[in-house]
This record gives sequence, structure tokens and C-alpha cells, in this order.
Amino acid sequence: MWILLILIAILCVLIATIIKSGRENYGIIESGNIPVVPPSLFLGSETKLHKEVQHLEDVKRFKKYGGIWGTYLGKSPQVHIADPDLIRLIFVKDFQYFSNRQDIDFGTPVMNEILDYLPGEKWKTVRSLLSPLFTTSKLKNMSDVIASSAQEFIQDLKSEAEKNNGRVKIDCRNRLTAWLIDMFSQTVLGVRMENSKNPNNEFVEAFREMMGENTQFNLLYTLSLTFPFFTRFAPMFNHEPTKLIESAFKQVMENRKKSGSTNSKDFVDLLNSLMEKVDTPEFQNLSITEGTILSQAVNFFLGGYETSGTTLSHLLLELATHPEVQDNLKSELDKMLDRFDGKICHESISDTEMPYALCVLKESLRLAPPLLRPERICTQDWRHPESGVSIKKGTIVMIAAWAANRNPKYWPNPDKFWPERWESAENLNPYAFTTFGHGPRNCIGTRFAYESLKLFLCNLVKEFRVEVRPDTQLNYKMGSTLLVAFDPLYVDLVLRN
Ligand code: HEM
Repeated sequence: MWILLILIAILCVLIATIIKSGRENYGIIESGNIPVVPPSLFLGSETKLHKEVQHLEDVKRFKKYGGIWGTYLGKSPQVHIADPDLIRLIFVKDFQYFSNRQDIDFGTPVMNEILDYLPGEKWKTVRSLLSPLFTTSKLKNMSDVIASSAQEFIQDLKSEAEKNNGRVKIDCRNRLTAWLIDMFSQTVLGVRMENSKNPNNEFVEAFREMMGENTQFNLLYTLSLTFPFFTRFAPMFNHEPTKLIESAFKQVMENRKKSGSTNSKDFVDLLNSLMEKVDTPEFQNLSITEGTILSQAVNFFLGGYETSGTTLSHLLLELATHPEVQDNLKSELDKMLDRFDGKICHESISDTEMPYALCVLKESLRLAPPLLRPERICTQDWRHPESGVSIKKGTIVMIAAWAANRNPKYWPNPDKFWPERWESAENLNPYAFTTFGHGPRNCIGTRFAYESLKLFLCNLVKEFRVEVRPDTQLNYKMGSTLLVAFDPLYVDLVLRN
């Protein structure tokens, strides 16, 4: 009897401790005058995370709470913002309070050192060392490589269609990400992988696995966000494929060094020259190692291929469902091709030569930002005197990108795909478009992304019309908090005569 009573007492203490620990941060967000999605007894506000499409949830919450609201992810306080004035304040003006992202241990050195998650001075130094890779002249150099890669991919699709009555069915994400990994292999590493001909090869599969494309967003996953202990049963990151990718990248960079050759159309030479500085005091003080440099090459693939694949998949769906937009694009393209002797290149796809193509792309990027919640962590207590809003140190602040990009105050008829709204871009509030983030820590690859997306779009529209199929359907996956995740999305590409 006594033993039973003691056991019951121990159990009660254990339960009380878990509940107390789960609730320890409750109230922090509310004390800053921010409305909060009511938390549960001790599991935070997101107990149904794996049963909800997170970006659509953000849009609903925006309608309910306005431009700022809070949640507890487990016990972590998170503030979500969708108001352009707050976005400007937090991501740009008061950047010194919000310069870092969360400190995440991915359990693998190559991932722990990517620019996305480097803190403070180390981030600042590495970012400035990488900026020469994204200058106008560098982009111009690489544009030829992107253009010929896009053209070759479209020609392969054309050959497939020719064998099939002029029509080819594609699973957008599968085909496009295979091509994108191929294109990034050429532009980042200067090597060809030929993935677009074989979208399920080992290298592509390794990237897919690494990005957790098969992650199960179940209760275990939701619990792991509250209690990190559960991560061992529901890993968010697959470490095995990172080894394959890491060693392939290393090999390419070493081979270039040994060969003594150079190539201004990829990133290898600059990355190798940074490797040579690892013994300097500047690098040693900040622990910038060869591994740190290698991680950046991996980062460009990861940062670029998944986001661009999602963007192009949504773009194809918008084109398929808006034939009139395709007609306008084709007529702009035909006129441009006349002026440029049929050449699709850096000069011919510029914003002045193809303004409508840019509007189409931006409208698609507005409606479907691939990164759901660009984030910062608050490193010093912050207060905004005018609104009385304050945010405590340690709170994660996220832009609810889907909600911000569909804020009806700045985007009339916000859910409508309407490229023409971008024709008077000077009247639009720049902070209401959040697809590439904002401030000093925005997307370093923005211009690279536009260049490659435009080159793809022009090559596609030149040869194909995009059409919906009876099985065309966009089903978003529930639970993903980082990137837009969706089931296979099929469209038909139909050869133009
Ligand atoms: C459609 C394509 C892309 C989208 C929508 C996108 C979006 C984003 C967003 C939202 C961020 C976070 C910004 C912030 O927190 O303010 C980001 C960061 C980043 N992106 Fe992109 N991205 C794209 C393509 C690329 C490409 C092509 C590259 C590289 C070649 C790239 C490399 C990076 C890196 C390295 C960061 C981290 C920057 C830092 O922390 O300093 N991205 N991207």
C-alpha cells in the first residue's frame, strides 16, 4: 500500500514538473501587448501542427489577429508578423536586435556551418566574403551557363513530346528540381550531373533525402518540436546523404585546385581562394575552417534548388490556369526574339526587354513564397514606443510570408493571380512583398534566382504551352513549417506548332 502511494506521489511530481516546464514561458508574449493563439495546458499553441497546412493557417490567423500575433511552439515563444511597417522595423531598422536566426544543431558539421544559421560576426564576415559571387558581372558570366542548361532541358522535353503526339506530362517538382540540381552543379561547381535526363539518380535522391522530402509530419514530429527528446524518433534532417554530397563537393574543389585551371563561370575558384585563408588570424579568430567554406557551396544548392523548384511548380500551374497570360508572354517573347536574333540570354531577358515576364514571375512569387517564415531571433529586449509592442530576448520573430504577401491593404483582390498589378511597381509597398526576406540578412541569391527563373520561363514559353490535366491538383502537405511542401503536381506541356 505504502509503495503504491509513493509511486503515485512520484508520478504526480513528475507530471507536475513536465507541466510546469512546458508552461514556463507562457505569458511572455502577452506581456508585450501581442495577441496569442491560446496555448494548451503544457504543449504550447501548436498541438495540431501536423494536421494543418501551416502557411494557410498563417493566412487565417492574420485575418483573426491582424499584422502581429504570437504562438508558443512547445515552450518557445514565437512572434509572427505580416505588417510591412513592423517588417521594416524588425528586419531592417532595428536589425541589431534581430541579426541572428535560431541556433539549431543539425548534428552534422556541414549543415551547422551554412550561412543561413551562422551567428553574429562569423555570419557578417562570411556573408561579405561571399558577396563577390553575386555581383552583376559574375551573374552575367554565369548567365550563359544557366541559359544553355535551361535550353537543353527544354530540348529534352521537346524530344519527349515529339515521340508522344506533341505532349508531355510532367510531375513539376520532380522534373524541375532534377534540372535545377543539374544547373546548380554547373554554376556552383562547374560540373555536369546530367540529372535532368535521369531525375531519380543517386545525387538527386541524396538532395531529396537531405531536405527531408519524405519527412512524416505526424504526432511524433509535433511532439519533437515541443520536446527535442523525440527528435531521435522523428529526425528532421537525414544525415547519411549529407556525407555523399559533402565528399562529392570536396572532390570537385580539390580537383580544380590540383588542375591549376580557372573558370569564371562558377563559384569554385573564389571558394578555393577562401580555403587558402583558413590559417590567417581573421579566419582563425572566427573559427572559419575549410569545412565552413565547403558548407557554403552546399548552402547554395540547398538555398536555391528547392525554393526555385517550388516557384516554378506554382508558376506552371498559374500559366496552365491562365492561358491569356501565356498568350501575352508569348507575344512579348516573340517581339524580343525578333530584336535579339532569336537569342535568349542575359541581355535579352532584362527587365526592360521582358517587363511582362518579370510581372508574371513576381506575381507567382508573391502568391506562393517557398520559404514560409523567414525568421530572426531577438537578442536584446526590444520595444516599439509608438505601438507599445515589445518583444523579449530569446523570442523567435517570423515573417508570416503567405499572410504578408496576401495582405488586402496592399494587394487588392489578394488571392487573384494578376501580373498587371506589378506594372506600376513604384506604387507598391516593398515590405509587403516578403518572398526573399528583408534587410542585411535577406536572400543572397535573389538576383541569381530571378535570372535563372526568367531564363527557364522564356525557353519554356518559346516551345510549349502549359495545360491542366484531369489529374492536375495542388495538395499542400500538412505540418511543414520551413518550406512549402506538396504532393506531386502534374501538368501537360504541349508543343507549339
Ligand atoms: C526562388 C528562389 C529563392 C527564394 C524564394 C529564396 C528565399 C530566401 C529567403 C526568404 C531567405 C531568408 C531571408 C531573410 O531571412 O530575410 C533566403 C536566404 C538565403 N538564400 Fe535564398 N531564396 C531563393 C534562391 C536562392 C538561391 C538561388 C541561392 C544561392 C545561389 C540562395 C541562397 C540563400 C542563402 C545563402 C540565404 C541565407 C542568407 C543569410 O543568412 O545571410 N537563395 N532565401
